[in-house]
Amino acid sequence: MRMNDTVALVTGSAQGIGRAIAVRLAQEGAKIVVEDRQDADAAEQTLAQVRAAGSDGCVIAGNVGSVHDARGVVDAAVAKLGRIDVLVNNAGVERNAPFLEVSEADYDLVLDVNLKGAFFMTQAVVRHLRDSHRGGRIVNISSVHEELPFPHFTSYCASKGGMKMMVRNLAIELAPLGITVNNVAPGAVGTAINNKLLHDPAELSALLANIPLKRLGKVEDVANAVLFLASDEASYVTGTTVYVDGGLLWNYSEQ
Ligand code: BGC
Repeated sequence: MRMNDTVALVTGSAQGIGRAIAVRLAQEGAKIVVEDRQDADAAEQTLAQVRAAGSDGCVIAGNVGSVHDARGVVDAAVAKLGRIDVLVNNAGVERNAPFLEVSEADYDLVLDVNLKGAFFMTQAVVRHLRDSHRGGRIVNISSVHEELPFPHFTSYCASKGGMKMMVRNLAIELAPLGITVNNVAPGAVGTAINNKLLHDPAELSALLANIPLKRLGKVEDVANAVLFLASDEASYVTGTTVYVDGGLLWNYSEQ
């Protein structure tokens, strides 16, 4: 199996893409730290799926947008499972509002969870790796919107654009420690973050018209890309973004 003898911490893994990543890595032998902000039942369901996939792990709650919590999650994970080899910064939120209406609270939430959370979770895991003299893998779940504008989602785009530059910097700075850092950038995936869209047939068909492969992404599509970047097969890949978007990002045609 591709992830034997490794421990992977997946933030925001009580649902959606995060849960699929947890299960996919578990199928390949990784032990999983299921991290989420609050929904203990949903996090326990992810852990049950990890066990059904033949592996094991634990649930640790914390708000990644708080540096205090981020450090606490990493300490608790190391205390319970002995080590962390792979960090998947998956936790993410978005808020829809015209620029002139964006509130400070919504801006702070989006930037804190998506960017500050990934930043300080990574710092805490890298300190652990450095202290234990081991390399490791950081994989961030970004978005096509690390490149592509998305009107009414400016705080979200700012957070994902920030992740794009964070990955490039950290790939260089952490290479001497044997740590690779990459982004996986999904397009439109059928999860709770897209509930409104999924229930609006007109909006959905307009979106599908922009996707060359003519379907929404599945959580497993994203999880498979994460598995590759987390595995030994990707040991020479760092500082880059893998798009999993059915061709959405660079779609252009004149017919
Ligand atoms: C956003 C979705 C959006 C998709 C494609 C994702 O990053 O979370 O709301 O539908 O990008 O635009």
